[in-house]
Amino acid sequence: MSEEQTTPKLYEPPEEFASNANVSDPAVYEEAERDYKSFWAERARELHWFREWDEVLQWNPPEAKWFVGGKTNVAYNCLDYQIEQGRGDKVALVWEGDEPSDGTTYTYSELLAEVEKFANVLKSLGAEKGKPVSIYLPMIPELPVAMLACARIGAPHSIVFGAFSASALRDRINDCEATILVTADAAPRGGRKTPLKQNADEALEDAPSIENVVVVRRTGDDVPMQDGRDRYYDELMADAEESCPAEEMDSEDLLFILYSSGSTGKPKGIVHTTGGYLTQVNATTKWTMDLKDEDVYWCTADIGWITGHSYLVYGPLSAGGTSVQFEGTPAYPASDRWWDVIEKHKVTILYTAPTAIRSFMKGGTEDLEKHDLSSLRLLGTVGEPINPRAWEWYHENVGGGRCPIVDTWWQTETGGHMITPLPGITPTKPGSATRPFPGIEAGLFDEEGNEIEGEGSGNLVIKKPWPGMLRTLYKDPERYRETYWEKYGDVYFVGDGARRDEDGYYWITGRIDDVMNVSGHRISTAEVESALVGHPAVAESAVIGRADEDKGQAIVAYVILEGDREGSDELIQELNGQVRKVIGAHARPQEIIFTPDLPKTRSGKIMRRILRGVAEGQQDLGDTSTLADPSVVDALKESRAAN
Ligand code: PRX
Repeated sequence: MSEEQTTPKLYEPPEEFASNANVSDPAVYEEAERDYKSFWAERARELHWFREWDEVLQWNPPEAKWFVGGKTNVAYNCLDYQIEQGRGDKVALVWEGDEPSDGTTYTYSELLAEVEKFANVLKSLGAEKGKPVSIYLPMIPELPVAMLACARIGAPHSIVFGAFSASALRDRINDCEATILVTADAAPRGGRKTPLKQNADEALEDAPSIENVVVVRRTGDDVPMQDGRDRYYDELMADAEESCPAEEMDSEDLLFILYSSGSTGKPKGIVHTTGGYLTQVNATTKWTMDLKDEDVYWCTADIGWITGHSYLVYGPLSAGGTSVQFEGTPAYPASDRWWDVIEKHKVTILYTAPTAIRSFMKGGTEDLEKHDLSSLRLLGTVGEPINPRAWEWYHENVGGGRCPIVDTWWQTETGGHMITPLPGITPTKPGSATRPFPGIEAGLFDEEGNEIEGEGSGNLVIKKPWPGMLRTLYKDPERYRETYWEKYGDVYFVGDGARRDEDGYYWITGRIDDVMNVSGHRISTAEVESALVGHPAVAESAVIGRADEDKGQAIVAYVILEGDREGSDELIQELNGQVRKVIGAHARPQEIIFTPDLPKTRSGKIMRRILRGVAEGQQDLGDTSTLADPSVVDALKESRAAN
């Protein structure tokens, strides 16, 4: 029996926490349900608008427009509006470098000054409203500065995670046809360096839209600078004009594009707009993360992922918070680094991923005991299902038994939290993301398109539009419609399976499509397959995610070699190198199995269920009668055993 099926323990919100929480009245759920548009409009009113909207929502499925006619600016909300409310001297950003001796802070006024200058730099390089800017930076303050500068002038940003390879960067630049790239010489992490500028140069060999490159000197490494194209950030900033008024953006103007893996090899350019997105990340930061003025809030995600966009930058800053940005890794220079960061900055709210918690569990509690973690009052998780044992460990050892845990389910597409406890209201069950956030309506459907009522399992859907929802896929509205709105009509098809229990609590069971979740990172099987077949020795490949205690899922690749090529350790190294080159190191397979054949149906479709079963060592592989050649299964088992 899996951990999840035993009767879960119920954790009530601690009384003291509940009495001080930003929201503690359960009536918010009913109120929002009665009139979700008014609910979200009330949340939107907590932001600054140059002009109020005429209409809360226009919904022509699958096209949503929120706060129609409203004018606002995300950077203005995150900076100027905070200063107007007396937060000018409050620390907005705490930056902790890879080396513990390296760090700095920015007040709201200081951050605004940087953002205005960099917005002017971008303008001088041709940036303008509606024209995407690509950003490929380490976790340094220049990253939020560049994002906010883009938002200030209305140039949508497209951030590419620093661990992505040159070719992944190139594809993302080419898809959005950015004219400016902001990068750095190199990215230090865990005592090692990633050569960002070198990757960028390689990407730019085949990215003709880029006219200007801004290079932040992070490490001071000597990097080649191309005349007329490349300029140093510090030199541009030294000459930049100081003042840059915020552009009055339409609520539905594009704020950013973020590429995410789908079930085909081509990443999806997920489009988020201005007013609705900000409303949702702001509201959820205040309600789910309970962010208050006194808090020091640390979201450990990289800004290159949606969690960093929404809950390291836009959510906490628009709520006037102090947000910690950490450049390094949990194990450098020593395995107690995170606990050191919490003690040093007196972090009160920690938001992280189950995979990190599981890796700490393995190391035991010794590292934690060396540090004073009593500042913590709330813990969050995101990115993948958290197994109850990891939840309990987090609660007991990191939270000292006193901090509520918010297990937040959402996606790049949803912009912000969708199913999550409210820490002052919702009793939690370890492993369940609990109930939809007020104003969000979730549901379950079976494969035939019937809605499942009450307790049951099925495919998760969202039944009403929500303000932070993606508006389309960049330049591909047809794929947007097909991916999310075709299967069940006018409800949003999530791509996750879930179970709903007797209390209406949701238990997310994972992806139901060909997308893997490796340490909370979304990677498509098709992307890894296409990287592998790009190697001349590979004739065909099939990739699956195998259940993994640490990472959630681990990547296993079955590979058929060309002609009479034989598998070897060297070839495994090469193939790993190939995946690193095409996608990035985070997508390398944990296991590569050379096989003479793959299990296919008579119509030629690969049966991944069987590949998963073999990789997980399952004895009973279920029904294999639909296979064109059932003897393939034994051959696969042999190949695996030979590995
Ligand atoms: O499968 C779900 C899982 O992560 C997917 C979304 O990935 P991405 O767009 O990269 O965004 C990650 C950060 C929001 C979902 O479809 N997922 C995310 N949060 C949870 C989760 N699975 C279970 N529980 C969660 N709390």
